[in-house]
Amino acid sequence: MRRLTLPRKSDTDVSLPASIDEAQSILAGRGYIADRGLAASIYLALKLGRPLLLEGEAGVGKTEVVKVLAAALDTELIRLQCYEGLDVNHAVYEWDYARQLLEIRLMESAGEVDRESARRELFSRDFLIERPLLRAVAHGGRAPVLLIDELDRADEEFEGYLLELLSDFQVTIPEMGTIRAVRPPIVMVTSNRTRELHDALKRRCLYCWIDYPDFDKELRIIEAKAPGASRRLSEQVAAFVQELRQAELYKTTGVSETLDWIAALAALDKEKLSAETIDETLGLLLKNQEDIRAVRGEPVRGMLARAQNRGARSTANAGRSAPR
Ligand SMILES: Nc1ncnc2c1ncn2[C@@H]1O[C@H](COP(=O)(O)OP(=O)(O)O)[C@@H](O)[C@H]1O
Ligand SMILES: [Mg+2]
Repeated sequence: MRRLTLPRKSDTDVSLPASIDEAQSILAGRGYIADRGLAASIYLALKLGRPLLLEGEAGVGKTEVVKVLAAALDTELIRLQCYEGLDVNHAVYEWDYARQLLEIRLMESAGEVDRESARRELFSRDFLIERPLLRAVAHGGRAPVLLIDELDRADEEFEGYLLELLSDFQVTIPEMGTIRAVRPPIVMVTSNRTRELHDALKRRCLYCWIDYPDFDKELRIIEAKAPGASRRLSEQVAAFVQELRQAELYKTTGVSETLDWIAALAALDKEKLSAETIDETLGLLLKNQEDIRAVRGEPVRGMLARAQNRGARSTANAGRSAPR
């Protein structure tokens, strides 16, 4: 696959795509299939220097697009994975208490403890442990991509800490003052929407919803990520997953599951889908026992029949529009 990376202007500048089309093609060059809406949001976020909030169900490609973007822009990716209880000490900075204590002992033994200068020295950059958010503003080189992943998992108060960073690209450390990014990081926030994020946070970001892919997009993703699979199997898999997503299930199948499934089918040397094969491999598509029980057997046969109909239609259409 062709790897497209934008040429660097200089060592400290990140070259941004010049158009929505270019944004789409640098992502495609690294195997990420973005529809026009997503490419436009990314292009604009980069152009306007604004954070982008990406929302969507799990497994629709939110984290991946940010990783691929950093690679295509040829810049560092700094990732903050959010979780319940995430606090400033883990997200922004922490004082290195052990080293501070040691330093005090050394000062004492040298007999030179002047309170004011000791305080200044102990609360300086040397004793600061930089966590992802501080690293993203205190970097000295090219603007990094800062991925704040799954923000909906963090507590609501944590969003409050982010406001200063998102609007001014700066972080305040009480003992030291405010640290402002010389070259603002490219900030991308993702959420699986297990809860609504605050309006104040949303106001600071551009927004893009990433939906489950339609048949054509998922087929292109499969072709990009599992190029070894036959065209026929790829089409059948894409069509079957579309049908499966129509079913009322506890948890809908994401793109990651589609890709795991086609890898499994290839490992089993399957050239085409059969109801038996699907029943045997349902655990790759659905991760919930009730869901598996609900579709195994008759429902799978119905979905497969409808998927094969679609496959026949799309092959006929392809034949008409692009005769060989
Ligand atoms: N549009 C896409 N193009 C290429 N790969 C994709 C796309 N969407 C999803 N994927 C693949 O699906 C997997 C899951 O995506 P991920 O970014 O982890 O989902 P999310 O962060 O939304 O939960 C990744 O391994 C990625 O390779
Ligand atoms: Mg993710």
